[in-house]
Amino acid sequence: MGVTIVSHPLVQHKLTIMRDKDTSTAGFRRLLKEISLLLCYEVTRDLQLTNIRIQTPLTEMDSPVIEGKKLVFASILRAGNGLLEGMLDLVPAARVAHIGLYRDHETLLPVEYYFKAPEDIVNRLIIVVDPMLATANSAIAAIQKLKDRGASNIRFLCLLAAPEGIERFTNAHPDVQVFTAAIDSHLNEKGYIVPGLGDAGDRMYGTK
Ligand code: PRP
Ligand code: URA
Repeated sequence: MGVTIVSHPLVQHKLTIMRDKDTSTAGFRRLLKEISLLLCYEVTRDLQLTNIRIQTPLTEMDSPVIEGKKLVFASILRAGNGLLEGMLDLVPAARVAHIGLYRDHETLLPVEYYFKAPEDIVNRLIIVVDPMLATANSAIAAIQKLKDRGASNIRFLCLLAAPEGIERFTNAHPDVQVFTAAIDSHLNEKGYIVPGLGDAGDRMYGTK
């Protein structure tokens, strides 16, 4: 597998405004929703199609639809919900898993507080979403939970990644393709992505 960088000019433009510390909470949330539509487009670009027979107002035809079972979007709470919302606008029939994790500020290890996923995830494509891949501890743990329940076809979608996180993630889950809008310079001593955009959850919800 590997890493795909979504370099579309609209994605890069919106990401720059999100990074700006003066962007408001409302603006940040709106941009995250907009960017999620563009990222969803890229992460689903290669889905297989199959023809079905339909009747147009003029004639019958064979026309393509997405093959296989409905997708599952798995949101790592809280910030994952900012990506999830737009993705569900594009793929309204998708099933949804919620994985509640927060980073302990001292250890940077994920603390789990919630998990709810559809029962039959085994034969479905699962797209795990979280705007930030920093140490990758949260994403690694979330994906391990899904694999423990039998999932085997998984992609990970984020907005920003640190090189350290990419390396740890691809070592832990070499079978999972990562999609991101950018890979930044490094992690600081507190585990924040630099230059980054700060704490995505806090910026989305006006907390801190
Ligand atoms: C943030 C982010 C990721 C995690 C990334 O969540 O949304 O889940 O940190 O860091 P990592 O790669 O080092 O694990 P946070 O723990 O701040 O929780 P929140 O979404 O509830 O704000
Ligand atoms: N989580 C965030 O929200 N931002 C970072 O820079 C690192 C982890």
